[in-house]
Amino acid sequence: MAPVYDDFTAHHDYEGWLTDLLVALERHGLRGRRLLDVGCGTGKSFMPMLPRGWEVTACDISPAMLELAREKAGEAVRLEVADMLDLPRFGEFDLVWALDDAINYLLSVEELERALTGMRANLGPGGLLLFDVNELLAYRTFFAETIVVERDGRRLVWTGLAPPDVAPGSICESRLKVVQDRTGAGTEVPAMTHRQRHFPEAEVLAALQRSGLECLDVYGIYTDGILKQPLDDTIHTKAIYIARSAAKRP
Ligand SMILES: C[S@@+](CC[C@H](N)C(=O)[O-])C[C@H]1O[C@@H](n2cnc3c(N)ncnc32)[C@H](O)[C@@H]1O
Repeated sequence: MAPVYDDFTAHHDYEGWLTDLLVALERHGLRGRRLLDVGCGTGKSFMPMLPRGWEVTACDISPAMLELAREKAGEAVRLEVADMLDLPRFGEFDLVWALDDAINYLLSVEELERALTGMRANLGPGGLLLFDVNELLAYRTFFAETIVVERDGRRLVWTGLAPPDVAPGSICESRLKVVQDRTGAGTEVPAMTHRQRHFPEAEVLAALQRSGLECLDVYGIYTDGILKQPLDDTIHTKAIYIARSAAKRP
């Protein structure tokens, strides 16, 4: 998805979203400025942290995504290819996060636990973990609809294949096609299938506990990105979880 990711998500306001997330993290005692961004993609989820003085390490399973992240960040960021299922210990971080559905690409609770355990191992003393997951509403709408995005002469067609009443915990698919590239010459990127799993709140909370993490807060957000409580999966498209190591209290 690397060549089209930024066009497809051009409307996402990361500056505003990350500002709100940092306020929530500060309420839980966020200290220090060392960030590990897991599933960083093209860098949208860490770039706003650089002018804020953060030292960033970022990883993704996709070398193509990281190449685009490198173009944006230059040498200012340590970028590593890594599968979050076998996350290396890159160091001790004050904040580890995985943003914008990166977690939903894991396809079972066992995979979720494995990824969370790897993230926990990267937390420094008092470090915080934050991640979002898509809620059922996202799978019953975005993953059940056809959406056309046109930007700079390129047309992207997202075809959600989920039934509009998809059950909790389901694996949902969507096809993304470039039907017209910038020159109008046709497809430059092969059609791709996105496969994501919905993780209900109870499963996430149990997985956090089994991974040695203590959940500190849960929020719901809609597409405006505003953090709300309590999480309500009939009106929120994403849930945000904040946790810390259960064994390492500051
Ligand atoms: C929707 S993108 C989000 C990217 C970025 N965090 C952002 O907010 O723009 C999800 C990212 O997760 C990455 N990803 C999916 N499965 C992964 C895995 N097992 N390990 C590491 N990264 C993974 C994908 O390559 C993709 O870059």
